[in-house]
Amino acid sequence: MAGEEFRRLRAHLLASAQGEVLELGLGTGLNLPHYPEGIMALHAVDPATLLPQIVATRSARVSFPVYFQQQTAEVLPYPNGRFDYVVSTWTLCTISDPVRALREVGRVLKPEGSFLFLEHGRSDDQKIATWQDRLNPIQNVIGCGCNLNRQIDRLIIQSGLAIVHLDRFSMQGVPRFAGAMYCGTASRYN
Ligand SMILES: C[S@@+](CC[C@H](N)C(=O)[O-])C[C@H]1O[C@@H](n2cnc3c(N)ncnc32)[C@H](O)[C@@H]1O
Repeated sequence: MAGEEFRRLRAHLLASAQGEVLELGLGTGLNLPHYPEGIMALHAVDPATLLPQIVATRSARVSFPVYFQQQTAEVLPYPNGRFDYVVSTWTLCTISDPVRALREVGRVLKPEGSFLFLEHGRSDDQKIATWQDRLNPIQNVIGCGCNLNRQIDRLIIQSGLAIVHLDRFSMQGVPRFAGAMYCGTASRYN
């Protein structure tokens, strides 16, 4: 997930982020080098602490402070209306209760704030979707809870967020069952 196409997509998604930002599922901090100038602070949650030395090194290289909490996105430890942007990349596939987490996103965003998402999910191509359903139990095990077949836009709408912009595309260099992408922005209904 650190390959060239992944990096290009991360940079493209994050170009508009600024102010106080929350990232769901920090992982090993692969997004950190792609945040633009204008970030005041990055807060991040993840129930796992993956490669903490690498996260520390990546955090030390950016110009803004990074505050990490070992926490699930379903219960965010922040007050209402705290963030200008919330970011999720390749994480809604794995969160146990994504709609609950997305409701939390709506709660912690400022009224004019934005949710930036870059996620893989269910393909619109029925043949690929059928394969995704077949392979999902295996992916769950080998991908540490990752699901191939979540309809990301539907989950976002179900949570009460409003999709402002959505790009659907098949990611290059990734097997088609794992490369059906949902990339866009959503906002709170005010
Ligand atoms: C495929 S990794 C993606 C990591 C990172 N977002 C990226 O783009 O490289 C999925 C991440 O979601 C995290 N995760 C799993 N369940 C979660 C939850 N309930 N809340 C927040 N993050 C979660 C995992 O620990 C993992 O770091």
